Amino acid sequence: MKNNKIIIIGGGVIGLGIGWQLAKAGAAVTIYERGQAGRGASWAAAGMLGPIAEAHIDELDLLKLSNQSLARYPEWVDELETETEMRIGYRAEGTLIIGIEPDDIYQLRHTYALQQDLGLNVEWLSGEEAREIEGALSPYVTAAIRCETDHQVDNRLMAQALQRAYQRRGGVLHQNSAVERIVIENGTATGVQTQDGFQGADVCILAAGCWSGQISGLPDTIIPPVRPVKGQMLALQMREGIMIKNVIRTVKARYPMPVYLVPRTDGRLIVGATTEELGFDTDLTVRGIYELLHGACEAVPGVYELPVIETWTGLRPGSNDNAPILGKTPVENLIYATGHYRNGILLTPITAYEIAELILTGETSEAIAPFQLDRFSKS
Ligand code: FAD
Ligand code: GLY
Repeated sequence: MKNNKIIIIGGGVIGLGIGWQLAKAGAAVTIYERGQAGRGASWAAAGMLGPIAEAHIDELDLLKLSNQSLARYPEWVDELETETEMRIGYRAEGTLIIGIEPDDIYQLRHTYALQQDLGLNVEWLSGEEAREIEGALSPYVTAAIRCETDHQVDNRLMAQALQRAYQRRGGVLHQNSAVERIVIENGTATGVQTQDGFQGADVCILAAGCWSGQISGLPDTIIPPVRPVKGQMLALQMREGIMIKNVIRTVKARYPMPVYLVPRTDGRLIVGATTEELGFDTDLTVRGIYELLHGACEAVPGVYELPVIETWTGLRPGSNDNAPILGKTPVENLIYATGHYRNGILLTPITAYEIAELILTGETSEAIAPFQLDRFSKS
């Protein structure tokens, strides 16, 4: 497969990550990106690498994949930073999940019991112990769960680095160049139709995030079940006395909604996020921003004084079961790498390594086998 022509549709972290790994192996890769590379969900994300904080009892395969990806992060960051001579803001301080009001404790205890049942590395802290780690936390924080291994990365820097690494390895990137149609002949993908005409390929990889189901040419039965899930976000500028180091996540039994606070090495504090089923709507709303700020101020009262420096929305590529869709499809030479929903930054390394391996060897690894498209037609 190495000498064949590979086309990737979509220049987010998933498309760029796979492209980088393939180009590194000597393959001829071209990415078509409708807008600017790395400016979709990959730009909007918070960059939390949080398999433990986001673990669900009914998503055990996803938890396993997420842990495998997290384990590969140090190697991934090292390789990417070395190749690009830039830092991507990987931070390993960990995550605190905090409870503020008395009712939140029930939720926190339930989360902790579940995490322990799953054998995850978590520690129960009193409010005082939590404040010893993060002095800016509210005096009303009554307890917390420490997830020491839930780290973070600056997703915007990672996307930039991936683009640089991919291009330095000889990968071709066409920006402002949408794929209009995937061309399938006799059950085999033969290339894509762009504004500049037909581009032939030996393998096509669909990595177009929440837009993956919108590209024409696919038979109805294999349109990936991926939808946009809106998230509103904002960034504050931290100041002395409110220099948070850990990722902080709240659980909320009642109002306002749970939020997370993610401190960056450059002093920005990312606050997120709403989860809204509103199609491709990307409006920022008063309610969204109000609830984010309300939740952030409850957790860290010093936030009241911080300047707001940015607000934005992004669209998560949500699949029907919240897990990514990875690997072969019933169409020969058509590979999917989409639907990463809330964890696409976390899942970038494993997706890039395993999809590149699939293309180079033809073999689906054990790691991604449970995530193929055919799981949706099995039950
Ligand atoms: P995208 O980054 O959206 O890239 C897809 C690309 O395809 C886009 O650039 C788009 O322009 C392009 N495209 C679309 N159609 C076409 C076409 N026809 N032709 C060519 N190009 C096309 N994940 C985490 O792991 N941790 C987090 O903390 C986290 N927080 C998040 C917070 C928010 C608010 C959001 C929105 C997401 C968050 N995520 C997080 C999820 C993560 O951002 C995504 O899962 C991940 O970025 C998906 O990457 P992608 O490359 O598949 O999609
Ligand atoms: N994983 C964080 C989010 O999707 O908002």
